Amino acid sequence: MGDDARRVVLPAADWASAVAAELVARLSDRPALRICLPTGETPGPVYAALVAAACDGRVSFDRATLVMLDAWVGLPPGDPARCDVRLRAELVDRLPRPPAAFIAIDVDGPDPDAAADRHDAAAARLDLAILGLGPNGHVGFNEPGSRPDDPTRLVRLAASSREAAVARYGATRVPTAGITIGLRRLLGAEEAWLLVTGERKASILRRCLEDPVGPDRPASWLRRHPRLTVFADEGAASLLPRG
Ligand code: PGA
Repeated sequence: MGDDARRVVLPAADWASAVAAELVARLSDRPALRICLPTGETPGPVYAALVAAACDGRVSFDRATLVMLDAWVGLPPGDPARCDVRLRAELVDRLPRPPAAFIAIDVDGPDPDAAADRHDAAAARLDLAILGLGPNGHVGFNEPGSRPDDPTRLVRLAASSREAAVARYGATRVPTAGITIGLRRLLGAEEAWLLVTGERKASILRRCLEDPVGPDRPASWLRRHPRLTVFADEGAASLLPRG
């Protein structure tokens, strides 16, 4: 356990293709990789590059298992902001051959706590956790206050996350809650990648990587992961110490 995350900083124009190339390399080494995937604006260009690679025959997900990182609760099926809808539209349904499994979070059933427990079991053996960084330092919906031993669970969303559902992702209503893979599973993944782009994330990225680790900025707990890679573009990395 150490504070020695690998930091990969790239020009914005090269960022998505470089992240995608690294995932293509992982999948060619280990086609049956079990990966958790985020939604949001950040990973979109990576997914586009992966779809292009799959269509060109440079990679296949047909033996891989894709596990959803998080989900809004309270959005109707088909809502454009839903994480399952976005992941399918941006990646899963665009692959020429489907993944071996796509494990979504059941947010439509009567018992979200039971759905979270089932998803915790699905997240128990992740080879790679791919994550985005929220403007408040969240990873998945591990909002400020989250702890490194938190399980996959139903969570109360930060006000900024609820607002983002509508204002940023076009949700048709305000979600009531979230379900997220917890930090315990993310820290237990064999490898973790934190994807961060744009100057709007520069300040929170610096605080997550340089300030003391703690629950105010949940992504800071990732520094306890033995194999963390931070993939940042130059805008997001602009406030990090040089070198
Ligand atoms: P973004 O969201 O990728 O749309 O910036 C990240 C997050 O809030 O987790």
